[in-house]
Amino acid sequence: MSNLAGMVTRSSEKPFLNVLNKEHADKTPFWFMRQAGRYLPEYRELRQSKNGFLDLAFDPQAATEVTLQPIRRFGMDAAVIFSDILTVPHALGQKLEFVEGEGPKLDPVRSAEQIKKLNFKDFKTRMEPVYEVIKGVRSGLEKEGFKQTATIGFAGAPWTVACYMIQGGGSKDFLEAKKLAYQDPETFGILMELLIEATASYLINQVSAGAEAIQIFDSWAGVLDSEQFRRWVVRPTYEIVNLVREVHPHVPIIGFPRGAGENYMGFVQSTNVNGVSIDSNIATRWAAHSLQPFVTIQGNLDPICLLAGGDSLKLAVERIFANLKDGSFIFNLGHGIHKDTPVEHVEELVKIIRSY
Ligand code: CP3
Repeated sequence: MSNLAGMVTRSSEKPFLNVLNKEHADKTPFWFMRQAGRYLPEYRELRQSKNGFLDLAFDPQAATEVTLQPIRRFGMDAAVIFSDILTVPHALGQKLEFVEGEGPKLDPVRSAEQIKKLNFKDFKTRMEPVYEVIKGVRSGLEKEGFKQTATIGFAGAPWTVACYMIQGGGSKDFLEAKKLAYQDPETFGILMELLIEATASYLINQVSAGAEAIQIFDSWAGVLDSEQFRRWVVRPTYEIVNLVREVHPHVPIIGFPRGAGENYMGFVQSTNVNGVSIDSNIATRWAAHSLQPFVTIQGNLDPICLLAGGDSLKLAVERIFANLKDGSFIFNLGHGIHKDTPVEHVEELVKIIRSY
């Protein structure tokens, strides 16, 4: 990739940021979703000393340490801050807890009255620890000599966060959230507007604190039909992107409408994101000609292929590189690392990536 004069453009020493800006990088940058987490023994140890997941996520020193753990082992090109997408409902006053072995549990919000009880009053103060983590990660990376590693902030997209808020926890199909969106789009829309506003302000504050790029996780985008996808995934993302850019015009933004299939095209064309994370169901050849001319592609190794390891891992990585390496490309997984992934498989993967 070069500019019009044929000169190689490289505005930062961080390859991850250069590739998001469609500039040249000497190597393919990589990071992994959920790179800080339970597959690492040092994470499990620190996690045990805490009362629960939220206790860990809201302790700036501990969350900074956890964010840096995978970087020390593998030297990723980006450090994604350790937090969770459900901190937003928590900071809006919805009761949230992480039950061991079961995942998140929230008091479901389903009526206009329940939605009206949510509020911004303590939002900024409750999120203060997250901004501290960002500052801690920036200075930790600098101090420990990871000068090429960028810091990524993130938030859940309104649709996915609404799914958990309405359902009250995880689900295969988020029936309650979908039902409300179809039956009573007006009430559902009130919640979505609140989430657009809260998420934009949260992301703006993250960038102000030092996040150099942001990712918007829409993990459940794939459960919507294409009409509802435009309404509850594309439009809210477009609005958040615009609100963030009003304050931080140059911050690169990555969207992740997981499971969107062919709807990825409309997403890329209508949200103004700089990059898009593709899940493992997307054929990389299709992504190369349908998406990559417009945005940087991030993806898309199947996390279970990494868990399995061996020859199939090597072949899968080769195929991804063959199809995507000629355009703007960041290597990642198609979804988060599985907790039972052997650390040696991650070491092997990093070796393969660095051999390109
Ligand atoms: O390393 C990173 O990627 C940064 C940290 C991060 C976490 N969650 C930490 C976490 C990020 C980016 C997330 C995002 C997140 N959280 C998403 C979007 C991405 C995706 O996976 O689809 C979603 C849907 C959630 C909601 C959530 N958080 C669930 C469903 C669960 C329970 C399931 C599970 O994996 O245990 C969590 C808990 C959670 N968030 C853990 C971690 C490391 C496990 C908590 C533990 O240590 O017990």
